[in-house]
Formats: sequence, structure tokens, C-alpha cells
Amino acid sequence: MSKRKILFVCLGNICRSPLAEGIAKDINEKEDLGLTIVSSGTSSWHEGEIPCEDSIKVAKLNGINISKLRARQVKISDKEMFDYIIAMDASNKKNLEKLGFTNVYLLGEFANYGSRDVPDPYFFDKFDDGIKKVYMMIDQCVTDLLKKVDNGSL
Ligand code: 4NP
Repeated sequence: MSKRKILFVCLGNICRSPLAEGIAKDINEKEDLGLTIVSSGTSSWHEGEIPCEDSIKVAKLNGINISKLRARQVKISDKEMFDYIIAMDASNKKNLEKLGFTNVYLLGEFANYGSRDVPDPYFFDKFDDGIKKVYMMIDQCVTDLLKKVDNGSL
């Protein structure tokens, strides 16, 4: 069977990875790709919480509702559950590798971003172009990732 399950991971699972999950689910639905898409945080700090205000707002501006997502922490059993683990930055990747996850990709490896980290909007002090740039990067990288998963080149 082809590999169809994707887990997006950041630190808190309230800013970046919920955006990746929302965007990926939107593409999955529109293009009927049949993928399973989940996001998580390496920490438990925000477990059960809704995404951060700026992420909800920027997603809404782009026609995507992420307000129903709830933060979950990565589980060791996710290793067997998911075919692709996609980290938002190098520290997320390192934390996953410490837990024994292998073959972790950086989202910034896709769409010619040169493996750049996705900047963390949690540390932005106002809603401005910063979050819009983060959204654009996640959108472009997720679009490229899903294309590669769907055509079997990843
Ligand atoms: P995220 O952002 O990893 O993109 O969800 C963060 C959320 C919370 C914290 C750090 C980053 N925090 O320190 O609580």
C-alpha cells in the first residue's frame, strides 16, 4: 500500500503545525487525495488548546478554518502510525530524533526553501506581514510536499 499518513510537528502545536494541518487538509479535500493528516507538538505545554490567535486569523483570511483543531503531544506510537514526519524547524527535528524518530523531514526542504526553518509566530509581537510570510511559506511547502507524496516521488 502506498504511504498516505502525514504528521506535522512543531513545539507547541498551536502556531505552525496547525497551519500546516489545516492547509494540507484543505488540499486533501479539494483534490480528493485520500491522505491522513495530523499535527502535534513535541511539548505537552498547550495540550487540548485551540491554535494561537494569529494562526486562526491568517488561516481565516485564506479561507481555512483551523479553530476546531486541538493541540496534542507527539506519541512514541506515532512512529508506527505515520509514513511521513514533517518538522517545522531544526530543533523540532532534533527533539523528534532524540525520541527515536527516523527519517524526519523539514517542511522547508520543500518548494525550494533551502531547508529553512519555519519562523515561530509565537514570538511575533503583533499581527502583521510576519505571520502572512509564515503562512505563505507553509502553504507553498505543504503544496509541494503533498504533490510529491501523491505522485510517489517521496
Ligand atoms: P509552535 O509555537 O511550536 O509553532 O506551536 C510555539 C507555541 C508555544 C511556545 C513556543 C512555540 N511556548 O513556548 O509555549
